Amino acid sequence: MESMATKFRQPLIVGNWKMHRTPSEARVLLNNLKEKLLEVIGTAVVVCPPYTVLSVAADILEKTSIQVGAQNMCWEREGAFTGEISPHMLRDLYVTHVILGHSERRVHFHETLEQIRRKVLAALAGGLIPVLCVGETAEERESNQQNVAIDGQLLSALEGIDGETIGDVVIAYEPVWAIGTGKTATPTIAQEMHDHIRRFIRRRFGEEAAQTIHILYGGSMKAANAGELLSQPDIDGGLIGGASLDAAEFAAIVACAVRP
Ligand code: 13P
Repeated sequence: MESMATKFRQPLIVGNWKMHRTPSEARVLLNNLKEKLLEVIGTAVVVCPPYTVLSVAADILEKTSIQVGAQNMCWEREGAFTGEISPHMLRDLYVTHVILGHSERRVHFHETLEQIRRKVLAALAGGLIPVLCVGETAEERESNQQNVAIDGQLLSALEGIDGETIGDVVIAYEPVWAIGTGKTATPTIAQEMHDHIRRFIRRRFGEEAAQTIHILYGGSMKAANAGELLSQPDIDGGLIGGASLDAAEFAAIVACAVRP
């Protein structure tokens, strides 16, 4: 059942560029996005380019409502951590959001549950909004273990967070089998998991947190399927990979999120 409060969650569309676009290539995409999204009202939009594009993005998107996010960060403020970037450094570049625990980082870079937990806490302490990614593998879904898998990831990543700060966390449900595969979760499957995640938040943090937290869907979302996914009562927005690299396609997804 859709509660009244559901209607007050402003949709949020986040573009995850992954490892695509040099700063000069990014200028073209960012200027196109700026032009196409100038008129957007009622939907929050965040673009997360590679680190090397963050300052270009902040410059081009200054004075627009489009916010800039990063795709990862370290949990420390500064120190001997070669190759890492801190929350403090991101904030200085006008970054507002940071994607954490993406399955590509868990799989290719062996990011652990403990590291993700530390990153979520550090993002919040550093004034950034963590976009915490959770998702089950194809094997886990085939063996009907998807809820167990998601609960485990949430329990670990949200440890140490209280009812006050949970409101600053965004959760992105990204089934691993749907990422970059063209295989989107059906609206029914996605809605079921979003409902499950909201129930988890309700049990742990209470009704208000459950009603205000944003739960995004990610995994082969594009303009052609965004409308149906985003109209589900517990899907509050999208985390878009491939389709965020095309300004017209991304703007069309944003248009699907706009509620009358
Ligand atoms: P795709 O939209 O390319 O499937 O990627 C989803 C994703 O991983 C966003 O973080």
